[in-house]
Amino acid sequence: MELNSVVKSLENQCILVTGATGFLAKLFVEKLLRIQPNVKQLFLLVRAPNSASAAQRINNEVSGEVFRVLRERQGVRYTTFISEKVTPVAGDISLENLGIDDSDMINKMWKEIDVVASFASTTKFDERRYDDAIRTNTMGAKHVAEFSKKCEKLKLLLHLSTGLILENPLRMGETMNGIKSPELDIKVEMKLVSEKLNELRANQVSQKEGMIAMMEFGLERARLFGWPNTYVFTKAMGEDIISEAKGHDHKIVILRPTIVTSTLKEPFPGWMEGVRTIDSVILACGKGNIRCFPMNPRTVIDVIPGAMVVYAAIVATVGPSIGDNSSIYHVGSSAKAPLHGTKLFDYVYNYFCKNPMISPPLKKESFGKPINIVFLLLKTLVFIDYFHDICSILNEKLSPFNEWLNIINHMYCLKESYFIFDPKCINWEDYFMNIHIPGLVKYVFK
Ligand SMILES: NC(=O)c1ccc[n+]([C@@H]2O[C@H](COP(=O)([O-])OP(=O)(O)OC[C@H]3O[C@@H](n4cnc5c(N)ncnc54)[C@H](OP(=O)(O)O)[C@@H]3O)[C@@H](O)[C@H]2O)c1
Repeated sequence: MELNSVVKSLENQCILVTGATGFLAKLFVEKLLRIQPNVKQLFLLVRAPNSASAAQRINNEVSGEVFRVLRERQGVRYTTFISEKVTPVAGDISLENLGIDDSDMINKMWKEIDVVASFASTTKFDERRYDDAIRTNTMGAKHVAEFSKKCEKLKLLLHLSTGLILENPLRMGETMNGIKSPELDIKVEMKLVSEKLNELRANQVSQKEGMIAMMEFGLERARLFGWPNTYVFTKAMGEDIISEAKGHDHKIVILRPTIVTSTLKEPFPGWMEGVRTIDSVILACGKGNIRCFPMNPRTVIDVIPGAMVVYAAIVATVGPSIGDNSSIYHVGSSAKAPLHGTKLFDYVYNYFCKNPMISPPLKKESFGKPINIVFLLLKTLVFIDYFHDICSILNEKLSPFNEWLNIINHMYCLKESYFIFDPKCINWEDYFMNIHIPGLVKYVFK
């Protein structure tokens, strides 16, 4: 696939982007508008009570830092350019027809949309109620798939899943380790959620008690089927629904990024939003709350800079699908440029020794000394669950023939200046010391 053909094929396209206020979707929209200003229309679906509030949310986003380079490039035409190319849509993927009330809008979308790119999701590992997560991550995927089928000229549905390195698509009733689990049925899960909510209502529990009960219920259901948390469990069910939706004229591409970190180069280095996965640990190190992190020296932590995920998403949007009409691509770094966990924590410690967040500053010699093990375990509990599964899969199961490599092979001929997504080009020490952690401090920790 030639670079020109990727950019060219975006010309005159109408693309629906869900989750448009989120970290990855913003990078996706910014990159699309920058490399192909002749894209016809981007329908940006955001949660909002009406179209005016949706427009307000999108206006706030496009005035944000991540759009700075595009703003500078468009100059005085920026506002006009955005209003010509972007249509804000008020909606909610947890509802049928994506919760879009405006019938003129929905008919226009069904007529015009060429590509659906679905980023919307509830993404926090902890603090997750099962009812919220299943409605968005699982039923949301169902509603997106159904909406896509109604788009008359749709070529492709791109669905953002999450990044466990697996070789095969997930099948209902299998755990992520491929172990058979008790029969998993999404309808049954929805019924259980509704029964649980009724029970909580009947018992007149407080809002806080209700929230805790729904979080615990999610974890209980996830663990019953072999998943470490409600997030990955509900995402896996969503992926399964999307895969089942094949058989229509459009292609389906599922993208599974691993742990996403700040931008490497574009639109500028170090841009990030929100404290995510490893960043909570990095922050805790900066504050001196974590001073060592026990880890097998062979453990690889699979992180991938945000913009690389987005480049893969763009190329997948226009690129050929592999095999039949649906493909799963893993977007991560471990196969090409493994980052060892012990190295990562060296970089973090070195950074905060040089650039202290607290006073008195941390000293290098204070790192690595065992501290109260109970305290440490509590601090790292959330990550142990997540890393345990990712790391065991990376250590044991990673095959040189997984589909992640396929997408790289298909994309290699692209020129670096437009789509840099070969993780081999990343110098991890330079990335963490000079890009990612300074970016976190600047844009997230503030
Ligand atoms: N970032 C990562 O580390 C990572 C790794 C692997 C996979 N992924 C996947 O990549 C996708 C994007 O992730 P992200 O990090 O960009 O997420 P994010 O920053 O948390 O953004 C999530 C977006 O989804 C929207 N959303 C949530 N519920 C919705 C609903 N019911 N209807 C419509 N929109 C809804 C949110 O809107 P509001 O602004 O209204 O809340 C927000 O715009 C997700 O599918 C995620 O699972 C992310």
